[in-house]
Amino acid sequence: MFSEKLFQRLKNAEHVVVLTGAGISAESGVPTFRGNEGLWKKFKPEELATFDAFIKNPELVWEWYNYRRKLIQEVKPNPGHYALVELENLFPNFTLITQNVDNLHRRAGNKNIIELHGNIEKNYCIKCGKRYDDVNLALEMKVPKCECGGLIRPDVVWFGEMLPIGAWEEAEEAASNCDVFFSVGTSGVVYPAASLPQIAKMNGAYTVEINIERTELSWFMDEVIIGKSGEVLPKLVEKLKEQNFTKILNRWRTV
Ligand code: OAD
Repeated sequence: MFSEKLFQRLKNAEHVVVLTGAGISAESGVPTFRGNEGLWKKFKPEELATFDAFIKNPELVWEWYNYRRKLIQEVKPNPGHYALVELENLFPNFTLITQNVDNLHRRAGNKNIIELHGNIEKNYCIKCGKRYDDVNLALEMKVPKCECGGLIRPDVVWFGEMLPIGAWEEAEEAASNCDVFFSVGTSGVVYPAASLPQIAKMNGAYTVEINIERTELSWFMDEVIIGKSGEVLPKLVEKLKEQNFTKILNRWRTV
């Protein structure tokens, strides 16, 4: 399943970066966006995930986000998420860049996370910017309003919006300065996130894709592993542990 080259690169790696997409949460029961069962097959993004849609019909947009919030609160991180926590502990420098808003990486225990598309459990007022990060606030009200009278919106990136300040810069910097870059469970069609694997590759990283099928990114990847992230990632961690990775940990400890 894994090449010798990958283990060689990982053994010498100081900085490992993982980019995740909706596929990593699929085995937890969170629907992906594309594909036959994807959310964008059943719902129209222009009616639910744009600022114009929110202004036009805040009730509908809140209903949609509350439906997803509830769903996410009811599910748990899966073995793929937990394997990424173990990976974070194996390398001196590890950056997890996610397009997911579901908070499952944080719940699993990863620490160094860049949330490129925001976080569904956080909210802010569109008028004064005040933050409302208690997820229950959103769940209890139909359309929550700020004390200043402004509408409160979910802190997620909608179509046509910029990424959160600093998040892109940090992600680009991490991708440009890593030894191994994994792209996990993303279709690789939403930019700028989808350019990160190429940035990594151009800067000399060994690039690996883990997905249940080939994607738009597969053609330039150094290695494509077809399989479920909840199965492939735990196997990778197991192999790393088997293959005298403790020796490498010792090396790091003495640095
Ligand atoms: P997509 O729904 O576009 O793609 C999910 C990917 O996960 C597909 O390539 C699937 O083949 C793969 N997949 C499904 N199950 C898997 C599993 N168990 N293991 C591994 N891979 C699996 O989701 P994203 O690429 O994350 O943006 O979509 C990117 C952005 O588009 C999202 O962040 C969202 C959406 O519109 C915003 O909300 C701004």
